[in-house]
Amino acid sequence: MNAAAVRIEPMTVEHLDAVMDIDRRAYPVPWSRHLWCTELGRDDRLYLSAISDDDVVGYIGALLALDDVHILTVVTAPAAKRRGVATRLMLDVIGAAVGRGATAVTLEVRLSNTAAQSLYKRFGMVPAGVRKGYYAPDGEDAVVMWARDIDEAPYQAMLATLAHNLEPAA
Ligand SMILES: CC(C)(COP(=O)(O)OP(=O)(O)OC[C@H]1O[C@@H](n2cnc3c(N)ncnc32)[C@H](O)[C@@H]1OP(=O)(O)O)[C@@H](O)C(=O)NCCC(=O)NCCS
Repeated sequence: MNAAAVRIEPMTVEHLDAVMDIDRRAYPVPWSRHLWCTELGRDDRLYLSAISDDDVVGYIGALLALDDVHILTVVTAPAAKRRGVATRLMLDVIGAAVGRGATAVTLEVRLSNTAAQSLYKRFGMVPAGVRKGYYAPDGEDAVVMWARDIDEAPYQAMLATLAHNLEPAA
């Protein structure tokens, strides 16, 4: 699977069986179908699915709040990891959020989740603080990360480079 060939689409209820299967494998407290449907119906949310050969191989969700986009979740199916799927999803959700007026991106990430932190650092996100005991059920701390001026030319150029690097070599 090549990340450049993955399609990124708005998440629909038709994706939910696959999305919930990926969610169950990634998180100790997966979301219920009711919660997913509620989230998909909200105007202030952006949910995107990554599709490869008609299979959902990842998804991202974000909350638009005034000038900020808050990434709520991003997950790649185990068999599709380290092929740029999450990078594609981040590129598309940030692009869509900037199109809707976002100027900054933020998220929380488990202190122990160095894989996700590496991904977010690639997107210029820097740690800005810690929320003590943020995560259920174990009370792990969350690192809060931000990138600002995401609508400005330098950040957009950085995104263009990330996108270019996903293209297969000619
Ligand atoms: C974190 C996660 C979404 C990354 O998805 P992915 O599709 O594998 O990510 P990408 O292939 O786009 O990786 C981009 C870069 O992120 C970093 N990265 C991703 N996974 C990593 C890992 N396991 N270890 C170290 N760095 C990692 C690397 O810099 C990577 O680039 P490289 O492969 O060229 O070295 C995925 O591991 C996942 O679903 N984890 C479980 C759910 C989760 O923790 N979500 C985040 C919640 S805040």
